[in-house]
Amino acid sequence: MAGIYIHVPFCRKKCSYCDFYSVGEAKMDNHFTDFVLKELSLRNPLIADRIVKTIYFGGGTPSLLPAGNIKRIISGLGDFFGVDPNAEITIEVNPDDVTLELAEQYQAIGVNRVSIGIQSFNNDELIFLGRRHDVGKAIEAIRIFRKASIANISIDLIYGLPHSTLKSWEHSLNVAFGLDIQHLSCYHLTYEEGTPLTRRVAKGTVIPLDEELSKAQFDLLCEMSKNNGFIHYEISNLAKPGYISKHNSGYWLGEEYLGLGPSAHSFNRSMRWWNPSSITGWEKEV
Ligand SMILES: C[S@@+](CC[C@H](N)C(=O)[O-])C[C@H]1O[C@@H](n2cnc3c(N)ncnc32)[C@H](O)[C@@H]1O
Ligand code: SF4
Repeated sequence: MAGIYIHVPFCRKKCSYCDFYSVGEAKMDNHFTDFVLKELSLRNPLIADRIVKTIYFGGGTPSLLPAGNIKRIISGLGDFFGVDPNAEITIEVNPDDVTLELAEQYQAIGVNRVSIGIQSFNNDELIFLGRRHDVGKAIEAIRIFRKASIANISIDLIYGLPHSTLKSWEHSLNVAFGLDIQHLSCYHLTYEEGTPLTRRVAKGTVIPLDEELSKAQFDLLCEMSKNNGFIHYEISNLAKPGYISKHNSGYWLGEEYLGLGPSAHSFNRSMRWWNPSSITGWEKEV
């Protein structure tokens, strides 16, 4: 059994806190998909004869890549590997990219799980984070996927935000648990080296949240998730019974995975390797 990760390195706007590798969407074209398929034909022997049980499109912002390109990559995988008919196929999406047309296209090409980067159900926090969506659009994105029969919905939230309170975090969690979601990833805000947010902290224009309050927010997450029937199966990940992420579990269980695209990591039990965090550097290697 193996997992496949595809890193889609494009974002419409870079968020001030994020250090995942991405460049502006102006650089996105069919060329990127051609190179992913080229890398697949080059590297598939490294995990030859494995059945693919999970496919994960992460980013960056995979929801910017047209669904036709996602389809080409999924079919390309089928040319080299046996793909489990029940494979978990996840795509990360930004809420404001979500339309019913896109959700139906995903459904039609076999995507059966979405991970929506909502981050907060408080508009002032979304503004602080420099997000493209507001709370209304985040809730609408969930409803759209449900309408398109994508039954496995995960959302990302960030806690420990400057200016957040126990009450604002409780509000985000209450909204989340009130929606029909199957999985929740909650990350404490990290101040990554070299990001604009971390520079603002160094200048003193942003003050990180008090540690005791951060801890109280985590404790609240533990309590509320339990009360809402979610299994807290990993420090940042919670799921309704039957919806633990198979792809993430594969990493923790030491299963093999092949990463395609710039900055993607791979492991085949005898070695680990990773691609350059640069589109040109990656293209030169494949
Ligand atoms: C690689 S991002 C891709 C998701 C998608 N592009 C989006 O932003 O909606 C995956 C998740 O990582 C989390 N994340 C990114 N940078 C973070 C940071 N500095 N601290 C905490 N969480 C972070 C966010 O919750 C984000 O949704
Ligand atoms: S959080 Fe998502 S949209 Fe924002 S820069 Fe990172 S990958 Fe791009």
